[in-house]
Amino acid sequence: MFDNFIVPKNLIPSDPRFGVGPSLIPVEALEALAKTGPNLLGTSHRKMPVRNLVKEVQNGLRTYFKLPDDYEVILGNGGATFFWDMIGLGLVQKSSLHFVCGEFSDKWYRAHYNIPWIQAKAIKVPFGEGINPVEAGEHDLICCTLNETSTGVQLSNIPQLNNPQTLMAVDATSGAGQIKVDFKNIDIYYFSPQKVFASDGGLYIAIMSPKAVARAEHIQKDKSRFIPESLKFSHAIENGRNNQTYNTPSIANIFLLNEQIKLMNKLGEEKVILEAKRKAELMYGWAEEKPYLSPYIKNPEFRSQAVITVDVDPKYNLGDLTRILRQQNVAVDIDGYRKLDRNQFRIALFHNVTYDNLKKLTQIISLAIESLG
Ligand SMILES: Cc1ncc(COP(=O)(O)O)c(C=O)c1O
Repeated sequence: MFDNFIVPKNLIPSDPRFGVGPSLIPVEALEALAKTGPNLLGTSHRKMPVRNLVKEVQNGLRTYFKLPDDYEVILGNGGATFFWDMIGLGLVQKSSLHFVCGEFSDKWYRAHYNIPWIQAKAIKVPFGEGINPVEAGEHDLICCTLNETSTGVQLSNIPQLNNPQTLMAVDATSGAGQIKVDFKNIDIYYFSPQKVFASDGGLYIAIMSPKAVARAEHIQKDKSRFIPESLKFSHAIENGRNNQTYNTPSIANIFLLNEQIKLMNKLGEEKVILEAKRKAELMYGWAEEKPYLSPYIKNPEFRSQAVITVDVDPKYNLGDLTRILRQQNVAVDIDGYRKLDRNQFRIALFHNVTYDNLKKLTQIISLAIESLG
């Protein structure tokens, strides 16, 4: 359908990476990594050069998020998926409550559901709809996905909990850095860094309140509950306090993470978020204006400022268009989430994806479709 479409030179974005993760890592960060030469990669993660790097990451996140002093920042291998199991085994006493509005919030729910000695309950809405967590029932952990990467739904509120025995846990994987939260309402906030934080996959970063640390310690004292060593919070917390990880991490990844934190700290969270909102306005405005497009998330309250999903009139074959854009190295990874199976674009509004490049992408897509007549 789009075989003859050639992207005009003046519209070619300066970087073709618009994907929601792994996301655009600045070439400058890769060059900075190469420049570390023999001083970092290939050295021990238990010695000062790497420990100082981990410390810089921890402090950089403290500054960026303005964390309360008594919150801890821990890092470990396995990404958010691994962390779901850590939470299920190590932080849920009896029961967790999950707010499910897409594939990732559902996967987190299922990770807990499979643990025989806890109960997991889900409050679900159909994919494409938004949901906001509320404190309900007798659950000792509430699980919220700040930004549902599969559908482009963002939570508009994380409530303050009334029951002092309940913990609030937030999977911030694709929203961390670009969606404001009040950490005083949150006990465990975690993310994988291959989204806004422009690093590689395989790592989790978690921010824990003293209440969450105390819960983890309490549960680990219960010797009737088996927790594999690699999943124990005590190891992660102890190593975090020593600016280390429990087992060997990818040092390159931590370096890239630190570069991105430094970049974002130059602006500060408020400005980063303002820029994300400006990009979201551009993209949703475009999706609403064109007769062949419509935002997948109908309620503006839940439209993400980190990941946008746009439905396209089914008469246009998007698979064909995304193939052509990839072949011309103009835009990669803008397809919808595979399991949703819609004629849809899903595009990152992450910090490194610039306003100008997003604008060019909208112009390219519109030109391609409108030139079909
Ligand atoms: C919201 C959310 N949670 C969890 C995950 C899983 O992250 P990982 O693949 O790093 O384990 C993803 C991955 O895209 C995600 O978007």
